[in-house]
Amino acid sequence: MKDRLEELRDSALKELQNVVDMADLESLRVKFLGKKGEITSILRDMGKLSAEMRPVIGQMANEVRSEIEDKISEAKELLKEKMKEAKLATETIDVTVSTEKLVRGHRHPLIATAEELEDLFISMGFKVVTGPEVETVENNFDALNTPDNHPSRDMSDTFYINDHILLRTQTSPVQIRAMKKYGAPLRMVSAGRTFRFDNVDDTHSPMFHQLEGLVVDENISLANLIHTLDIFVKELFGDDMKTRFRPHYFPFTEPSAEVDVTCIKCRGEGCPSCNFTGWSMELLGCGMVHPKVLETCGIDSEKYTGFAFGMGIDRITMVKYGINDIRMLFDNDKRFLDQF
Ligand code: DAH
Repeated sequence: MKDRLEELRDSALKELQNVVDMADLESLRVKFLGKKGEITSILRDMGKLSAEMRPVIGQMANEVRSEIEDKISEAKELLKEKMKEAKLATETIDVTVSTEKLVRGHRHPLIATAEELEDLFISMGFKVVTGPEVETVENNFDALNTPDNHPSRDMSDTFYINDHILLRTQTSPVQIRAMKKYGAPLRMVSAGRTFRFDNVDDTHSPMFHQLEGLVVDENISLANLIHTLDIFVKELFGDDMKTRFRPHYFPFTEPSAEVDVTCIKCRGEGCPSCNFTGWSMELLGCGMVHPKVLETCGIDSEKYTGFAFGMGIDRITMVKYGINDIRMLFDNDKRFLDQF
């Protein structure tokens, strides 16, 4: 039995030399040390030994077992080390790759405001439509009853692509497109980008945003216009807000008005930001759609009447969030945008 144990040890050590991976090592462990392994079977046969030999062989068997165990764990460490080296040799780490996680952004305050405005009008039964930023002179001016000599048609006021195409100066041409496409009755709003030759300062930008609205139906009167805009302003800024309609001129509406709204800062008390008038000025333009505009779009102006309105989304955003420089809306400075 002694010889068998020695033989076992020798062959285990010899086989260990040929182990190349963890799987080899594991099958070797099972073969010699496992439950059905060779050492275990020797220990099982110990019962057949004489009382004197039993402790001697028992001790030897334990020694052989722990020797094999030690060798196996040594070999294991070595293998691990080898595998790590092999991995390092085949894999390279690109230290220039950014490990920063992508940060999810959020809606721009301007877009959030535009969507809020649209939602309010959707809740009043309006449909949302869109129109192109590059428009025809026809849709932007002529169909809107804006005569040739109107100052807004001037080269110094408008970005012309050529004699017939321009960057729209207002969202009002979407009214024309919508009436031609859907006819009457119609209730629509349209938000988008508009362009004018303005010098940049804290309240002016050559690119800005408007929300246009139009209602055409039978028996639409000025009362419907006033009520709709009054409700809208209260929904947007609060029930204590008042509206004030001042007569004005727009070529495509008759009569026309500009709408002032209770100063959002002082709620009508009078403060520096409203020049102590208690009113935020010129938040909206509006009026009853000119019959000529309806007729141009193929709508019977004897049967149908309508009202329209337009407002600056940038202006409303600034008032809403207390932003005092329009340029901040377009700078795309993350430190600014992260505040909203
Ligand atoms: N388009 C006008 C502007 O840019 C705003 C406007 C005024 C729109 C009256 C309208 C309206 O629809 O009825 O100044």
